[in-house]
Amino acid sequence: MQYIPPSTLRGQDLAPLLAARGHAPDWIQLHDWDPHSPQNVARNTYAENSAKIPFHYRSAVPSLPELRAWIDTLVADAKVMQAERKGPIASVIHGPSLLLLGQTGVGKTHEAYGAMRELSVSGVYAQWQVTTAADLYAALRPRHGIDSEAEFRKYRDARLLLVDDLGTERKPTEFTEEINFRLINHRYEHHLPTLITSNLRPKELTERLGDRVVGRLAEMCQRIPMEGTDRRRKAA
Ligand SMILES: Nc1ncnc2c1ncn2[C@@H]1O[C@H](COP(=O)(O)OP(=O)(O)O)[C@@H](O)[C@H]1O
Ligand SMILES: [Mg+2]
Repeated sequence: MQYIPPSTLRGQDLAPLLAARGHAPDWIQLHDWDPHSPQNVARNTYAENSAKIPFHYRSAVPSLPELRAWIDTLVADAKVMQAERKGPIASVIHGPSLLLLGQTGVGKTHEAYGAMRELSVSGVYAQWQVTTAADLYAALRPRHGIDSEAEFRKYRDARLLLVDDLGTERKPTEFTEEINFRLINHRYEHHLPTLITSNLRPKELTERLGDRVVGRLAEMCQRIPMEGTDRRRKAA
C-alpha cells in the first residue's frame, strides 16, 4: 500500500457511510500530511477498494444490522492487534465471516459491496479481493500460460474476501468442489474474514456444497437470512 493520499474523493457518495461510522461528511477530506492518520488510511483504503466495486453497486450502503456489527468487530479487532504490535496503522487481518443467504434479487450483492465500502472508510486498512464463485472457477481453470496455483493463492490469502453467489453453478463438478473445499478450509483454518453470498436455501447447502464445506462454514460464519422479493423484477 502506498501512503500518498489521493487528492480528493468527492463525488463518491461517502456521506451515508461516514455517518454510519460516526464521522462528519468532510472528515475524510482532511489533509493533515500524517500518512498514518485514520483519514489518510481511509482515503487510501477507499481508493484502492473502490476500483474493485462494480459500477452498479458504486453507491451501495449496507442496511442489515448484522453487517454493521461485523464491521464494528473487524475494526475493533484491528485496533486491538495494532496496539499489541505497536504498528503505525490498524489493519484487518483476522476475523469472523458472514454468509448472506437469500433468493435472487433480495439485495445480497448490494449489502456485500455496501459493507466493503463502509469498512473502507472506517480508518482501518482493509484490503479486499472480490469475485463471484463462477469467475473464480473460470480464473482457476488450468490453461496454458496461467499459474492457477498462484491465482488461487490470491483469493485464498486475501485479507478480506467476497465470494458472491457460491453454490449457484448448475452442475457442481469435482473441480469446483475441490476449489470450494480448499478455499473455505484455508480461510477457516487461518480465521480470515470472508463474506459469502448464496441463493441456495439452507436445506440445499449440504446437497450442493457437501458436508466438509458446510461444516466449516457453519463454524466460521454467522448466517444471515435475507427475506424479501426480487428487487430487480420490481424495478423492471
Ligand atoms: N438497499 C437497497 N437499496 C437500493 N437498491 C437496492 C438495495 N438492495 C438491492 N438493491 C438493488 O436491487 C437489485 C438486486 O440487488 P442485488 O444485491 O443485486 O441482489 P442479489 O445479489 O440478492 O441477487 C439491484 O439492482 C440492487 O442495486
Ligand atoms: Mg447478487
